[in-house]
Amino acid sequence: MQELTSYRNRQKNLLEIINNQVAVIRSNDLVTRNHDTEFPFRQSSSFNYLCGFGEHDSLLVISPAKTTLFLRETDPFLELWMGKMMGTQRATDILDVDEAYDIKELAEKLPELLDDHQDVYVDFGDEKAMTFVKEAMTNLARRKRKKTQSPHGLKNLYDYVGALRLVKDNNERARMQRSADIAGLAHRAAMATANKERNEADIENLMEFIFKREGASGAAYGSIIAGGENALCLHYIENNSNFKDGDLILIDAGAEFQGYASDITRTFPVSGKFTEAQKEIYQLVLDAQIAAIALSINGKTLDDIHNETCRVLCEGLVNLGILEGDVKELIANGELKKYYPHGTSHWLGMDVHDQCPYKDENNETIKLAPGMSFTIEPGLYFPTNDPNIPEKYRGIGIRIEDDIMMDKDGAVNMTASVPKTISEVERACSEDPSQFLFL
Ligand code: GLY
Ligand code: MN
Ligand code: MN
Repeated sequence: MQELTSYRNRQKNLLEIINNQVAVIRSNDLVTRNHDTEFPFRQSSSFNYLCGFGEHDSLLVISPAKTTLFLRETDPFLELWMGKMMGTQRATDILDVDEAYDIKELAEKLPELLDDHQDVYVDFGDEKAMTFVKEAMTNLARRKRKKTQSPHGLKNLYDYVGALRLVKDNNERARMQRSADIAGLAHRAAMATANKERNEADIENLMEFIFKREGASGAAYGSIIAGGENALCLHYIENNSNFKDGDLILIDAGAEFQGYASDITRTFPVSGKFTEAQKEIYQLVLDAQIAAIALSINGKTLDDIHNETCRVLCEGLVNLGILEGDVKELIANGELKKYYPHGTSHWLGMDVHDQCPYKDENNETIKLAPGMSFTIEPGLYFPTNDPNIPEKYRGIGIRIEDDIMMDKDGAVNMTASVPKTISEVERACSEDPSQFLFL
């Protein structure tokens, strides 16, 4: 595992895997919410990863000779309304870049920065970056009698940065653990606080309050606070229903701490006590999750983990009489998908679904190795109107999700301290909620 987080190192590592050519990467845009109001700005994770600069309207060019940042020049009028800006002067002092120019000079300066490289690497999904690069390449191609080579190859930068981001260094790992701890605390607070007098919005607000109080910038993604049947919608984010006694609450919520996400799901009873039917399904999901964690071994793949999860869930559904037939066939025929419609794992890091490749350059599934981080999140969701399901199970939605970091000795469960067994969860539901409000 890399020890140092230095933007210079990251730029160097990128140059190494792009054969010392040139990379162009753009910041995120400020996005209009309505009329003249914008959504809060969130920097592009990959841009942030390579230079740590948090402003919009910027663009980074990384070449073996130098790293160049284009950014907005300071403007007293803008600063009065929107706050301090970095500006070109300070950028070279503070950031790991060699040169900084006003973004207004981009069209004029970009051709020289790309000149005499064979290939230009740019994110093919970023239309604006592609336009800038193509215009610069056209400009170079039209120059007569020049003694340098115009770039003629365009390559997709996306997976190259993703490949770097796949293996976290110790600094990233510490931030991810802190993010997981903050989110874990918020989940415990939710278990202690939720009851039939509360609603989903109360719990979302409580968790957001704890995230921010503990130093996170907020939620890492739209929190899912789903009482009862709302849990059957996988990305439910309305979070505005009252809780009902006898129902379960599924919470899928993580914090963003210093740019790094956690992603935790727990499911617990409104009343604080699981019914017998809820216990049966909960225990099955938990068994699948524990089996999947046990398979998180260096050299294994996320596919191996998913297959094992499916096997345990499907066997359990056959035992409960919900599915009938051969486990392998039921999985292959898509029968399990009716009740387990999503994958088991995704990479985790700066993005909740971290922008990292799942296949390597030989199109082989990536094998787990130290520094890789991912989730394990089996679930079962029983529609309210499925006649194949015994009535007592209908409308139940349960997911359990932990965050794993691979170490040289194997998997570290970063969210292991969040209550998870039936007895741990019931105990957490009976804790004094006031203890979480003012620590
Ligand atoms: N929170 C989204 C997910 O679990 O993938
Ligand atoms: Mn997840
Ligand atoms: Mn999640």
